[in-house]
Amino acid sequence: MGTAVAEIRIDQRVSRFIGQPRKMLIGGKWMEAASGKTFSTPNPATGDVLARVAEGDREDIDKAVKAARKAFESGPWRRMTASERGRLIWKLADLLEAHLEEFAQIETLDNGKPITVSRAADVPLAVDLFRYMAGWATKIEGNTIPISVPYTPGARYLAYTLREPVGVVGQIIPWNFPLLMAAWKLGPALAAGCTVVLKPAEQTPLSALRLGELILEAGFPEGVVNIVTGFGETAGAALAAHPDVEKVAFTGSTQVGKLILAAAAGNLKKVSLELGGKSPNIVLRDADLDVAIPGAASGIFFNHGQCCCAGSRLFVEHGMFDKVVEGVAKEAKKIKIGPGLDPSTGMGPLVSDEQLARVCGYLESGLAEGAKAVVGGRKLGEKGYFVEPTVLVNTKPNMQVIREEIFGPVVAAIPFKDVDEVVSAANDTIYGLAAAVWTRDISKAHRIAAELRSGTVWINCYNIFDAALPFGGYKQSGWGREMGHDALELYTQVKAVCARL
Ligand code: NAI
Ligand code: MG
Repeated sequence: MGTAVAEIRIDQRVSRFIGQPRKMLIGGKWMEAASGKTFSTPNPATGDVLARVAEGDREDIDKAVKAARKAFESGPWRRMTASERGRLIWKLADLLEAHLEEFAQIETLDNGKPITVSRAADVPLAVDLFRYMAGWATKIEGNTIPISVPYTPGARYLAYTLREPVGVVGQIIPWNFPLLMAAWKLGPALAAGCTVVLKPAEQTPLSALRLGELILEAGFPEGVVNIVTGFGETAGAALAAHPDVEKVAFTGSTQVGKLILAAAAGNLKKVSLELGGKSPNIVLRDADLDVAIPGAASGIFFNHGQCCCAGSRLFVEHGMFDKVVEGVAKEAKKIKIGPGLDPSTGMGPLVSDEQLARVCGYLESGLAEGAKAVVGGRKLGEKGYFVEPTVLVNTKPNMQVIREEIFGPVVAAIPFKDVDEVVSAANDTIYGLAAAVWTRDISKAHRIAAELRSGTVWINCYNIFDAALPFGGYKQSGWGREMGHDALELYTQVKAVCARL
């Protein structure tokens, strides 16, 4: 910060894209909001307005749901073969890959993350997810089932199941991985044959809108994917409550997850939720610290800690505590903080002034309650939404910084004496999204993995994601699994067909 920055040159297509107010995608057409309103999305590195976007609300959501319903009931989507559906999804992946740099820049401008990360992670993972799900389109199968029916002696039947699309789906996504979250949601829904109304986060609507252009270019029939930009309390709430939406998929805060569930009750739409976390990262005494220390640092500092699975509680076995804390603090100091467009930046700004205030609020409350910052602890600079990577010690189990999700680059290091103690401390949370353990003892590692109440456990690694690996939460971290073949469960339903022969 403060030193000269060498930012990359913005792609002309990106400048053009953000240079004019962006419309919403409804029924294959780009439309302004019914109200005519727009809202601005800021550049988090500067706080300046980056672009303006149509501000969708209830009426726009309703139009989009109607378009999705029509596409589901009577459009060409319905008549397409599974192979054709798969090829469209694959084509979307190819187009996305061909526009990788453009998407990486849009993502970095809108979210703030380093361009090196958008290029290496966000866009390639989205491409890979679409390819993985494209392959599933032709492999969604039912079963034939031998049935006995004791009250019709002598009768014979052919019984089988069909796995059919759920129908019109509402998808509400967050701002931490805007494009990738759109891919996680759209990929399986499209593979299953659903139609979609997607509502991106108001902080980061741009990459989804650009993706909408590629969706049309790939040749998806109109109305199959509709993208309505707007705020959570208005457009999001209208989508979650809409009586003609048959399923809602949400990623975001646990608090809003509960609102989604309540809104879904009206027509008992199916619900899947990927919510918050307070993930334990456990370093045992026999761990290879050359790997565990940078691993623990990247487990919390990657994406500025704005990860639902961030390793925000770092448990370290007695005897190693000082060494690990010192090592993670040293890693924190090495991180170059600056605008995401500078390729030498290791950590960019947080996504919004609201998120900056939230993270700083946690830092203040932690320090006021007696925690100590070994490194970091403060907001950084006057311009943009930067905060220092922070390592806290001297925390107590009941502090807010230990109980609640911070969603920033803040880790609390906590010493422990033995495995039983750390397993119960690790599980002492309302969340259960991810966890990790670092050790050279393989049986201990797998024993602990079995004890941890979370949807993912990493052993001697952190933040390893793959399109084939299911991801989701235990406890209040969510319902359902995204990615892998488990994701298809969210977008399909089973029909039993029984014929008397
Ligand atoms: P949020 O949960 O309010 O927003 C996520 C999405 O939900 C956005 O698209 C938003 O427009 C929408 N939304 C908000 N209120 C809604 C409502 N009443 N009905 C329907 N949709 C609604 O998250 P926010 O405010 O951006 O961040 C707050 C905290 O949430 C973060 O500090 C973090 O702890 C957590 N979070 C977790 C994420 C995850 O990946 N699990 C992602 C983003 C935030
Ligand atoms: Mg919110």
